[in-house]
Amino acid sequence: MNNKVKHDFLWGSASAAYQCEGGWNEGGKGLSNWDQFCHSEKNKKGFTGDVAADFYHRYKEDIRMAAEGGQNTLRFSISWTRILPDQSGKVNEEGVNFYKDVLLECKKYGITPNVTLLHYDIPAWLEDMGGYRNPIFADEFAKYCKVVFEQFGELIPLYVTINEITHNAICSYLTGHYPPNIHSTQALCEVGYNMIMAHAKAVVEFRKFNFKNSQVGIVHTTNTVQILKDTPEYRIAQRRCDLFKNKWITDPVILGKFPDDLLPLLKESGIDTSFVKQEDLDLLATTHIDFLGQNCYTRTLARPYREEDGETNYYPNNVGAGQKRLEGYVVKNWFTSDHDLNNPMNAWGREEYPKTVYDMLMGIKKDYGDIPVYITENGCAMYEKVEEDGKIHDQRRIDFMKGYLDWLVKAENEGCNVKGYYAWSTTDCYSWINGYEKRYGLVYIDYESEDLKRIPKDSYYWFKDYIKEHTEGE
Ligand code: NOJ
Repeated sequence: MNNKVKHDFLWGSASAAYQCEGGWNEGGKGLSNWDQFCHSEKNKKGFTGDVAADFYHRYKEDIRMAAEGGQNTLRFSISWTRILPDQSGKVNEEGVNFYKDVLLECKKYGITPNVTLLHYDIPAWLEDMGGYRNPIFADEFAKYCKVVFEQFGELIPLYVTINEITHNAICSYLTGHYPPNIHSTQALCEVGYNMIMAHAKAVVEFRKFNFKNSQVGIVHTTNTVQILKDTPEYRIAQRRCDLFKNKWITDPVILGKFPDDLLPLLKESGIDTSFVKQEDLDLLATTHIDFLGQNCYTRTLARPYREEDGETNYYPNNVGAGQKRLEGYVVKNWFTSDHDLNNPMNAWGREEYPKTVYDMLMGIKKDYGDIPVYITENGCAMYEKVEEDGKIHDQRRIDFMKGYLDWLVKAENEGCNVKGYYAWSTTDCYSWINGYEKRYGLVYIDYESEDLKRIPKDSYYWFKDYIKEHTEGE
């Protein structure tokens, strides 16, 4: 073991359009579901992404800082409504030019762009027609992707279709704290299915271009599922939790088919599965990704479901330190989250378990062989402020990242085909309904200052050194 990854490993950080761009009504951009939600009375906390990190105006500064921090890749997303502002399908040149400028700026520093086509923000007009729940969503998404492939072609070497189908669908249609704020297990299943089909149809469009220097993948929020007791009941709960959290995404996008035990279990749980169409399954069987993006924050511990656990739901903690509840899931008759209270938790009730990145990479190797994997997000949520010396001493984040990265390097050394790592996030940004208090950035943003001053945190410098020390020379 040499404790270093290969010389062409991608090291960088990640962000997403609605969370960092701002400029919500500039440059000919149309309204997204998040613009709509944040400007409605449903937005109880009042935070919006109207300005966010103002990447729309400050992208040059942010890309330069990333490059100076030793990063050779950046992950960001394209806002659908900046490219296609309305239902007419007319392309907004100003939006296209904005992203071309961003891509050129990356090129200037030798930064490889890893670009997501959909990171939670869909057009408001589509949301009004039922959004992800309407099967036309898949066709509309594929049309938009085709425009992006036409406009940017091989300027983008790594295309990601959709970010975190599971988390997006669960938050929007099960817990309902994200727009359109619906709470229904039937809707959750339909939405998940339509999103998978949207991904598959986008891959079909991508393949038509026959790019030589671009690849397509998806980003999944991975939760390796583990159990604290090894009994037959716990093992059943583990499998069901793995289906719910992972396999209904990773099997179809990599193997081209849903797991055999999924549909029977859904039917047994009272889900009307008539939305599953044979022609869709046939199409799915022909689409395969080139790489898998894994957002890796934590694992999920599962135990058998008990009657008193109640109805199916996901319990996030969106209050932070003021709320004692730990993050968790109940899926009726399938499994319930378990917790190992010996491990550290962040202020939002999420277990920090660095070895999960190793377990996950080994699991991918076992189930899917050598498919290239990028850790497309990993990061530490913190409340932070500028210290008296004008700096941000985020030692906790450094310890967190070191923990995960050491396990990643070990997995790579042991033969896992992991090709990149992205810290979430490039700068502090809008953290969905947690607003701006929950910070993840390598670079601090002083939201009080007029010019949204950027201050690199201690972790930014530490990451630069880690990259240098853990990458093989040419
Ligand atoms: C996953 C999501 O992709 C991103 O949008 C979010 O802000 C981070 N995780 C942190 O929770």
